Amino acid sequence: MRPFVFVNAAVSVDGRLTDWRKRQVRISCEEDMKRVDKLRAESDAILVGIGTVLSDNPSLTVKSEELRKLRILKGKSPNPLRVVLDSKAKIPINSKILSPDAKTLVAVTEKANVEKVEELKKYSEVVVCGKEIVDLKKLMSILYSMGVRKLMVEGGGKVIANFLREGIVDRIYVYVGGFVFGEGVSFAEGRVGIKVKLKSVEKLGEGVLMEWIPTNSNKFASDYN
Ligand SMILES: NC(=O)c1ccc[n+]([C@@H]2O[C@H](COP(=O)([O-])OP(=O)(O)OC[C@H]3O[C@@H](n4cnc5c(N)ncnc54)[C@H](OP(=O)(O)O)[C@@H]3O)[C@@H](O)[C@H]2O)c1
Repeated sequence: MRPFVFVNAAVSVDGRLTDWRKRQVRISCEEDMKRVDKLRAESDAILVGIGTVLSDNPSLTVKSEELRKLRILKGKSPNPLRVVLDSKAKIPINSKILSPDAKTLVAVTEKANVEKVEELKKYSEVVVCGKEIVDLKKLMSILYSMGVRKLMVEGGGKVIANFLREGIVDRIYVYVGGFVFGEGVSFAEGRVGIKVKLKSVEKLGEGVLMEWIPTNSNKFASDYN
């Protein structure tokens, strides 16, 4: 079994997650930031690739104190579990994602340096999952066995592409903001080639929020209702 998996990302009009310098640009408006914070608060875990950790150094915590309190009232931790895909355990120990604000799971592969893995274990949980890159299906089973029923995938482009290609995405939320970059990291980096069905479109602040359903997500189903 696996958790219900959804991707959330903000893109430019030309479908880029970043500008040509591959640097983070605030594409979302205030309203969208609030929506994303709520999605985070409603999730059991939030996942990113090491590319995003190295370029943006995100903390991946719930920003609203009210939403954190609501989680506590429901018997949950204030923040969801943070998950990083990091085959070679490259993550800098001082990354914000390893802060004590929330628990973190770093998924590495057999290629990871054993000493670095031992050091990482002081700051996070570590699972060895796959040979070259992290085996996503295996990781989904591990997360499910840890009680994760709703997983938010926040990117970046390579991670989104691999999740979609493997049929592990149940929903896609894309916020399109008012930028055209021309170059930069794409929403999905690499070949995917799947069909997605439009569920909803809404004007949000200065941009547009779309919800899409991948048609290949039943290949490896979740039991989330
Ligand atoms: N606009 C937005 O909403 C948004 C959101 C998030 C990120 N971003 C942007 O996205 C950019 C990063 O995207 P990116 O494509 O370069 O990197 P990424 O998707 O964040 O990370 C990709 C890396 O994760 C590791 N990985 C391990 N197992 C993997 C697997 N099964 N599938 C995919 N990756 C796996 C690989 O590195 P190893 O082989 O070394 O492990 C891979 O190169 C950043 O510049 C960030 O600003 C934007």
